[in-house]
Amino acid sequence: MLFPMEHTKPVTRAFGILTAGGDCPGLNAAIRGVCRAAHIRYGMRVVGIANGFRGLIEGDARPLESEDFSGILTRGGTILGTSREKPFKAQADERETVLDKVHAIKANYRALGLDCIVALGGNGTMTTSYLLSREGLNVVGLPKTIDNDIVGTDRSFGFHSALSIGTEAIDRLHSTAQSHNRVMVIELMGHKAGWLALYAGVAGGGDVILLPEIPYDICAIARHLEERRKSGKTFSIVAVAEGALSREEALMDKKERTKYRAETASPSIAYRVAREIERETGMETRATVLGYVQRGGIPSASDRVLATSLGTAAADLLAEGAYGRMAALTGDCVSSVGLDVPADKVKTVPPAHYMRATAAAVGTCLGG
Ligand code: F6P
Repeated sequence: MLFPMEHTKPVTRAFGILTAGGDCPGLNAAIRGVCRAAHIRYGMRVVGIANGFRGLIEGDARPLESEDFSGILTRGGTILGTSREKPFKAQADERETVLDKVHAIKANYRALGLDCIVALGGNGTMTTSYLLSREGLNVVGLPKTIDNDIVGTDRSFGFHSALSIGTEAIDRLHSTAQSHNRVMVIELMGHKAGWLALYAGVAGGGDVILLPEIPYDICAIARHLEERRKSGKTFSIVAVAEGALSREEALMDKKERTKYRAETASPSIAYRVAREIERETGMETRATVLGYVQRGGIPSASDRVLATSLGTAAADLLAEGAYGRMAALTGDCVSSVGLDVPADKVKTVPPAHYMRATAAAVGTCLGG
């Protein structure tokens, strides 16, 4: 339960803030939310750490003042920079490296005079944050990712903006698909979880949606597209998550699958699905990969609101000294969960999720 502590002395006097993992729209809105509430409302000192955990290892940090987090609400990317540095992740023969990095992080934490670190990131960042808190550091997490796959929060900021971009792309593909009587395959991000493909696919009226959670059968897809053709529809839209996989692949072990994918899904899964559809149906098929467009640009209004709410909730956690937690959205409430909840997990689309039923109810083929 979060509550503002405006009239009592905040437990945290100084904190470092960093953004880690892939960027997304809403990061700056969240930075602004945390910093405005923590600095202006609670009087805390703020240290901006550059490029995620790499900056914490290297001691690359600077004080942030009010003007640094002013005028950034609508800006895409992150003013702090980011990296995919995971200090606890190393090969077996690199144990020393892990120890060195954790040692450097602890030393910089002390040298910068921090009482806590606020880490904005996805699953990997929450795992690192949890491990750092087990090492004795105070950490508060904020869930961001366009993939919406963080356990412990109903939604992460970034997702809604990417959904809008994905939906607009599908809308645009519709008209060209119709003009040319083609099947258009569009690939959306999401390696392990298909939230973005499912939501954008439904929002854009996709005829087929393929998710990592439902291994696909190309024959079922071909049948669905042929039935559409028989009913007089001369074009189709297929939305594919980048981690979508066939039934055959689902039966393979990781090594086998990596090899098979490299051989068959080049340059990415959308191209393989397009080739398979063309082979099975004879329909002219094209592939489009949205890629990093999904992560760029200004945040949607919904993401600005979510990022600001979760950011200010993180400031409340700092004020209370409620460390080792991640601010979260639960239903219509802002709350928090222990960092152990998201650590080392991925929130996939559950079999009974209403969006699967929604897609099926409007006649969308989910590939299974
Ligand atoms: O931000 C998450 C994500 O968008 C994944 O869906 C995607 O696979 C990944 O990032 C790719 O990002 P990068 O190339 O920066 O590692």
